Amino acid sequence: MVYNMSCFICPVCRSLLNIDGRAYRCENNHSFDISKDGYVNLLMSQQSSVKRHGDDKLMVRSRREFLEKGFYGKLQNALCNAVKSNIGYGALIADIGCGEGYYTAAVSTCADYSVSGVDISKDALKYAAKSLKNCRFAVASAFSLPYGDRSVDCILNVFAPSAYEEFSRVLKDDGVLIKAVPLSEHLWELKCAIYDEPYKNKPEIRDDELFNLVSVDELKYKIKLQSNDDIMNLFRMTPYYYKTGRKETQKLLELNELETTVHFGVEIYEKR
Ligand SMILES: C[S@@+](CC[C@H](N)C(=O)[O-])C[C@H]1O[C@@H](n2cnc3c(N)ncnc32)[C@H](O)[C@@H]1O
Ligand SMILES: [Zn+2]
Repeated sequence: MVYNMSCFICPVCRSLLNIDGRAYRCENNHSFDISKDGYVNLLMSQQSSVKRHGDDKLMVRSRREFLEKGFYGKLQNALCNAVKSNIGYGALIADIGCGEGYYTAAVSTCADYSVSGVDISKDALKYAAKSLKNCRFAVASAFSLPYGDRSVDCILNVFAPSAYEEFSRVLKDDGVLIKAVPLSEHLWELKCAIYDEPYKNKPEIRDDELFNLVSVDELKYKIKLQSNDDIMNLFRMTPYYYKTGRKETQKLLELNELETTVHFGVEIYEKR
């Protein structure tokens, strides 16, 4: 669905932003240009003192190339099914930490929804906004979301930081949070190929005063990577990439084939 009204709020005065030609503008005349690729930067300078903002160009390109090959297609389908069975048509969906929009794209075409995405990485949003003209994208932090209180029907949060207080603020009372997380066996063989003492992921289920866990679905299967490019692309999209030493990285550079388990959890939460 293409829509003319903006779903975003002004980061300065928090009133609604309207689309005014090539900019978003609020009633107090704060204005934010829409980039040539189609996203808007709503990240305030005081939120941007850190050097690196989310995923960089190399991580973004590696993830895009890897995902385009369909290795995580089953997760993409599972997320679309989770959205369709929990959310009515016309709903506003916010994909928080959307990256280059692989899951955002699928959700925006699986039914008639208004879909928007937020990420702190400009490099990721450049690609997302360029390729998905039917969605709205804003550079912003998950911890200071550009949505009004109780304005969003569904938050999608796939392998990205979870800002539960913000999620609870922006979700409607009957809103739903759909998360995808790595479970214990995720990428086990990849880790074994790198580390002498690999460790398993310890998933953390949230059930507290803000969110009530409704269901968790597990998805576990093996993927066969048949080139070093595929192996390195997968490695570069993980958090291990920047934490792994040269010697260990070298082990992967010498591999041309790898079969590894992928193990995802799709968690559905309702707001308390
Ligand atoms: C592992 S990637 C997942 C991207 C996408 N959801 C996917 O699965 O393809 C994590 C994403 O979270 C973003 N990110 C990291 N910190 C963030 C923050 N504080 N606010 C918003 N996004 C953030 C990164 O830039 C990156 O695009
Ligand atoms: Zn304003």
